[in-house]
Amino acid sequence: MKGRIAVIAGDGIGPDITQEALAVLNQVAQTFGHEFETAGYLAGGAALDVHNTPLPEETLEGCKSSDAVLLGSLGGPKWDTAPSHLRPEQGLLGLRGGLGLFCNLRPAIMYKQLSGACPLKAEVVGEDLDIMVVRELTGGIYFGARARDEAGAYDTMSYTKAEIERILRKGFEIAGKRSKRLCSVDKANILSSSQLWRDTANALAGEYPDVELSHLYVDNAAMQLVRNPRQFDVIVTENMFGDILSDEASQITGSIGMLPSASLREDSFGMYEPIHGSAPDIAGKDLANPIAMILSVAMMLRHTFGLNEEAVAIEEAIGRVLDEGYRTADIYSPGMTRIGTGEMGRRIADAL
Ligand code: IPM
Ligand code: MG
Repeated sequence: MKGRIAVIAGDGIGPDITQEALAVLNQVAQTFGHEFETAGYLAGGAALDVHNTPLPEETLEGCKSSDAVLLGSLGGPKWDTAPSHLRPEQGLLGLRGGLGLFCNLRPAIMYKQLSGACPLKAEVVGEDLDIMVVRELTGGIYFGARARDEAGAYDTMSYTKAEIERILRKGFEIAGKRSKRLCSVDKANILSSSQLWRDTANALAGEYPDVELSHLYVDNAAMQLVRNPRQFDVIVTENMFGDILSDEASQITGSIGMLPSASLREDSFGMYEPIHGSAPDIAGKDLANPIAMILSVAMMLRHTFGLNEEAVAIEEAIGRVLDEGYRTADIYSPGMTRIGTGEMGRRIADAL
């Protein structure tokens, strides 16, 4: 098959891990006989440096005319003092909003090879932890009105019923294909938007009789995730709660360097990126773990291109390299072989 992919390597370790992800994609193309045309675009700090905007028009248009977007990471201390609308992160929000990517899938899967890297006790986590966080991505407080002056500042968390309904439906559908348990996370004891969220979830539940719906307040959910993560299968929640809980869930699996994500809408288009940030302190030093980015390629092959066999091949290749004891610094443990970003990418491509 043929596919067109917009590639935004971004800032910090973004270019390091993107290079390895593209090498793996290339290997998939060769092994399975596909053609992927890639085009690079600027966003975030890299775009600010050249165009004085974190999201040039040309980047958004390039993404719109592609089948999928692969994104490394955006941001870094160099741009931290910029006014808030000129921060690299606004490039990411602009992409998510501008492309209509309301549904963010963040799988937190524990690799058995890395169980030693998990900070929780083995009996709490078990061997095969697999949690899917479904995060609403284009609404809520990250997109609401905000302002700041001498006297104070405010941000607004607002949702329409339609926005809540479409993400909850995704949650129900995904849960229906997995364990049939859906945990909706909100703060309905305080927030109006959360009360609407909970009422909407309850109203929809009747349409998904095979899925068991439960609710948790976000503070309790944060506690339960480390107290007894095995109670969770699919979590669906609004934008900011999902941002926070997915970072927490990632630690249960050992390293945030292992977690990919897919940002989707109703058609097959999607943007795929690791959930970690740009780690500027280790950028360009061959230290970053490229696995989250390579797993993001697997998610892209599966969701946008419907290439499940190819996605599984990547996931298995990663498993084999981990079986052989190769580790980047973030997942290193004594007795393993420590390697850099480039070698990890190469070994995964070779294992394919
Ligand atoms: C993430 C990141 C982003 C977010 C930042 C960089 C804007 O933390 O993808 O989780 O908050 O969504
Ligand atoms: Mg985050």
